[in-house]
Amino acid sequence: MDQNELKKAVAQAAAQYVQERLHEKMVLGVGTGSTANEFIECLRPFKDQIHSTVASSEETKKRLLALGLEVLDLNSVDEVSIYVDGADESNEQLHLIKGGGGALTREKIIAAVAKEFVCIADQSKYVPVLGRFPLPVEVIPMARSHVARAIVQLGGDPVYREGFITDNGNHILDIHHMEIKDAIGLENQLNQITGVVTNGLFAARPADLLILGTSDGIRKYTA
Ligand code: 5RP
Repeated sequence: MDQNELKKAVAQAAAQYVQERLHEKMVLGVGTGSTANEFIECLRPFKDQIHSTVASSEETKKRLLALGLEVLDLNSVDEVSIYVDGADESNEQLHLIKGGGGALTREKIIAAVAKEFVCIADQSKYVPVLGRFPLPVEVIPMARSHVARAIVQLGGDPVYREGFITDNGNHILDIHHMEIKDAIGLENQLNQITGVVTNGLFAARPADLLILGTSDGIRKYTA
């Protein structure tokens, strides 16, 4: 199976996981990116049984509305039962790097609210040590250079994602060449830099379940 087929397979497995847990007032959190888009497609056969959703980006919101699903403002929601999203990397502790698509802040907020966070990814994303994929950091635009200098002090190599503005109106710095052995420590350190909105390490709140598409079939990992 190629990477696209693996994405479709994990999306289908996640949709089945959600369908088996549907309840009357379930609010489903939906992530951003190509794997999440496949997941949205897999909701189609049982979309009428889904009470409502929250979206981690404007793009995802558009896709959910096009499917006929209700998309709520997170502020009007007490509980998100399950949040399903892709990732750029995962280690065996289910610490993730996310934000390749630039939606990391809204993704992290929904992950914080969700009772269960299900990550879906193909096998290329499962790594022994995080950091080969550049780690995104969302920054307030006027703080970009300040944050970049602070990241250099931490040993990282920040690169401005030129021409990209997040759904929140901010900029992204992608940190290259970091071997991330203490993901929770680095997540906290980066968030302490003034001007950082958040960073793409999902370690303090990791995934609860990783559904991984491999050439040998679907594998499920819990932390
Ligand atoms: C977007 C994300 C995505 O989940 C991540 O980039 C993976 O994307 P894809 O499923 O397209 O490989 O964090 O901000």
